[in-house]
Amino acid sequence: MTIQAHGGKLVNRELKGTEREKAIDLAQSLPTLTISDWAISDLELIGIGGFSPLIGFMGKKDYESVIQHTRLANGIVWSIPITLPISADKATTISQGQEIALIGEDGVLYGTIIVEEKFQLNKPLEAEKVYGTTDEAHAGVKKLYERGDICIAGPITLLNRPVHDEFSEFHKDPLETRKMFKELGWKTIVGFQTRNPVHRAHEYIQKSALEAVDGLLLNPLVGETKSDDISAKVRMESYQVILEHYYPKDRTRLVIYPAAMRYAGPKEALLHAIVRKNYGCTHFIVGRDHAGVGDFYGTYEAQDFIRNFEEELGIQIFRFEHAFFCTKCENMGTSKTCPHDQSHHVHLSGTKVREMLRNGERPPKQFSRPEVAEVLIKGMQQI
Ligand code: ADX
Repeated sequence: MTIQAHGGKLVNRELKGTEREKAIDLAQSLPTLTISDWAISDLELIGIGGFSPLIGFMGKKDYESVIQHTRLANGIVWSIPITLPISADKATTISQGQEIALIGEDGVLYGTIIVEEKFQLNKPLEAEKVYGTTDEAHAGVKKLYERGDICIAGPITLLNRPVHDEFSEFHKDPLETRKMFKELGWKTIVGFQTRNPVHRAHEYIQKSALEAVDGLLLNPLVGETKSDDISAKVRMESYQVILEHYYPKDRTRLVIYPAAMRYAGPKEALLHAIVRKNYGCTHFIVGRDHAGVGDFYGTYEAQDFIRNFEEELGIQIFRFEHAFFCTKCENMGTSKTCPHDQSHHVHLSGTKVREMLRNGERPPKQFSRPEVAEVLIKGMQQI
């Protein structure tokens, strides 16, 4: 039996064919709102059902309930507000009940929203409750503070998708991944979220999980990330290379997750699990400091937090301790499987690795597969 979408039904808010053409024609006469790439990625995820059961940008009741109780107003588990904040000035030109055309900074019409309500964000409270801090040194909090103060809320329609040109082959909707799993005969599927190139520790935890399930969905986030993260384009190349050389073809699939990164640690880990359930995964990996940034979260805080909702969610969480290469064991392990002390473990920080790559240096092969390092060095030097 396939896993049910979150809330019971996979949402589809995208119009196609003549219905879409009609809606595009009608949209020409609607008032317009220019929205950011982050908002476009949320619009897409609502439209394609990745954010089921959401059918639009959240209203005040849902917003407050998500912040305070990690649930939508109807009680369904949800951990991060999906809102459409705009400037106070722009908000005065929009009234309740209006339909608005949502335009990207590139001039493309992406969709429409029916404005059911307008409300003010409580940014300090949202920062504290969702991100665990109001410190703007936190990349997610900084982004939250940069957005507008007034939200418009209501159901959306997706009319044009953002083009993910380089990745079109790997761009699949939840409905399509579900169909793909069925065709592959996979009954149990583990989803893997990442915003980094796959290194040996990632590979180790993915393959450990793969020992227990039918297939792996490598599902890298390709929406907005912070400026020092490696670009999605370079990462996508690295994923293809590692899959080609080190993974069984009939047991792995690469599909993009077109969302923006929030760096909200535990709360984002929960959102990541919910979305992968919508994509049809039965299992989801949460390792060390999932979706974390700097020292804002404890190493296993995300794993512990998700435990409170796991039974209700239905998707099973594979928890992994900090994995490393041990020079004494001569293989990968964690404190659960390796008896040696830290002096034998190969540890490299993300910052250190990026610095090496920028200088054209290969990280040790106990950390990164040489084929991956090659792609990353080339990619980083082109920037
Ligand atoms: S994330 O922000 O998308 O979580 P990243 O791409 O680094 O960042 O991590 C992807 C997944 O791998 C997360 O579940 C994370 O917890 C896990 N992970 C990353 N590095 C390790 C490691 N060394 N040991 C165990 N798990 C790890």
